[in-house]
Amino acid sequence: MRYTQVKNLKTLDAFREHVDGLDIALPIADRVEPNGVLSTPISFVDASAGTLTAPNRFAILPMEGWDGSLDGGITDLVRRRWGRFAASGAGLVWAEATAVRHDGRANPNQLVMSDATVDDFAALRRGFAEDQIVGLQLTHSGRYCRPVAAPIPRTAYEHPRLDGPSGADASSVLSDDELDGLVGDFLTAAHLARQAGFDFVDVKACHGYLGHELLSAHDRPGKYGGDLMGRTLFLRNIVEGIRRELPDLAVALRLSIFDLMPFTPGEGHVGRPVDSDGSYPYAFGGDGTGLGVDLTETHTLMQMAADLGIGLVCTTAGSPYYVPHVQRPAFFPPSDGYKPPEDPLVGVARQVAATAELAHAHPEIVFVGSGYSYLQQWLPEVAEAVVGADDVAMVGLGRMVLSYPDMPADVLAGRELQTRLLCRTFSDCTTAPRAGLVSGCFPIDPFYKEHPQRVELAAVKRELRTR
Ligand SMILES: Cc1cc2nc3c(=O)[nH]c(=O)nc-3n(C[C@H](O)[C@H](O)[C@H](O)COP(=O)(O)O)c2cc1C
Ligand code: SF4
Repeated sequence: MRYTQVKNLKTLDAFREHVDGLDIALPIADRVEPNGVLSTPISFVDASAGTLTAPNRFAILPMEGWDGSLDGGITDLVRRRWGRFAASGAGLVWAEATAVRHDGRANPNQLVMSDATVDDFAALRRGFAEDQIVGLQLTHSGRYCRPVAAPIPRTAYEHPRLDGPSGADASSVLSDDELDGLVGDFLTAAHLARQAGFDFVDVKACHGYLGHELLSAHDRPGKYGGDLMGRTLFLRNIVEGIRRELPDLAVALRLSIFDLMPFTPGEGHVGRPVDSDGSYPYAFGGDGTGLGVDLTETHTLMQMAADLGIGLVCTTAGSPYYVPHVQRPAFFPPSDGYKPPEDPLVGVARQVAATAELAHAHPEIVFVGSGYSYLQQWLPEVAEAVVGADDVAMVGLGRMVLSYPDMPADVLAGRELQTRLLCRTFSDCTTAPRAGLVSGCFPIDPFYKEHPQRVELAAVKRELRTR
């Protein structure tokens, strides 16, 4: 199935007509007003840190580059990426996944927050504009731990569908004592993040990593599984610990607000669900079939977050490992993915609608949405509409700012978009790290076009095409 590429929808009317034809609800503004709603400051209130205000409605989403040093330290590639985000004009920067311990890294080049790296993080933090809010995502990669070349998965529970592909078995499951120890590791990393000057830390609960997987640990015995109180205990213990020990550090949450069952390449390499017996209890925010969304538990978790004094939540969905079309809608799949089983705009609309449902129900929380990059040249019109309707407070930008970091500044200043820089969702920034290379926008960013690893990436893609 071929879908219409967004770049070929040359007018707003054509885009609207296409969206209508897909039978999805995607708010689209007629125009982006200069000094309009996207330029309005937005404040969130944190129980410890008080009121924090971002100067506009654009946020940069966390995006790691698989380009730290082998001991978790900051390199020139990291400095370049963060420097471009600092100059982007976005009011808030949600900085990339940073492991709380070495063996919790998702790849051997993931950053680690430690005594050895904290000063370099502080130097990076100082590079941002005075009025930008900057937070750091703290993570343990759980099932997707790969601190050395080979995966060393550590899981929340035995998973009938994910254990095989991720190389996990019964011995991978973390014990309660190990999870207690990890709570302490998150607290130590939060102390260091505060020392480095970050405004908030995010206790990552998305994309199939440990904090997310625990949310679906229905069958896990003991205190960290079972009912929603048990499944959220790890998260709550970390947040409460930070509250206790760091009275002026804000805490935020990035959450996969819904999930689906894993997809796999089917006929013609088009993605299809791995199973179709109609029952899948492992998707947090799912409807039990593995194919639908039900935000009942997500709403309860948002209430818990508000009770913990959290005022900032970034919504995302699914996982880039087992449902990439849900998590980062793309026209061209990454090397370990599959051809899109739906028009990628359906994936965008799914995240937009679920975020809107939460935003309207929990007005005490400032929500940052994700998954907008596939909108390409029409991203500003959708951003204007969703923020204008209070469907979301801030529009998070992921892949788009790898290719076009100045998009927020251009939109806010009312300048024409630089169309040659628009992310066209080629997925090279995902395919490269899957092959052990650094991530970056190899097709569009002139720096990565010239990078020596572009040649290796081209060879990897050629090899994949011949399979
Ligand atoms: C290269 C790359 C690295 C990413 N790294 C992270 C990360 O460190 N933490 C995280 O929560 N999400 C990460 N993501 C997901 C993005 O934050 C975002 O949710 C996703 O790209 C969808 O938003 P978009 O459509 O604007 O790209 C990454 C995505 C990409 C493409
Ligand atoms: S490689 Fe560049 S164009 Fe492709 S998805 Fe990533 S940011 Fe977008």
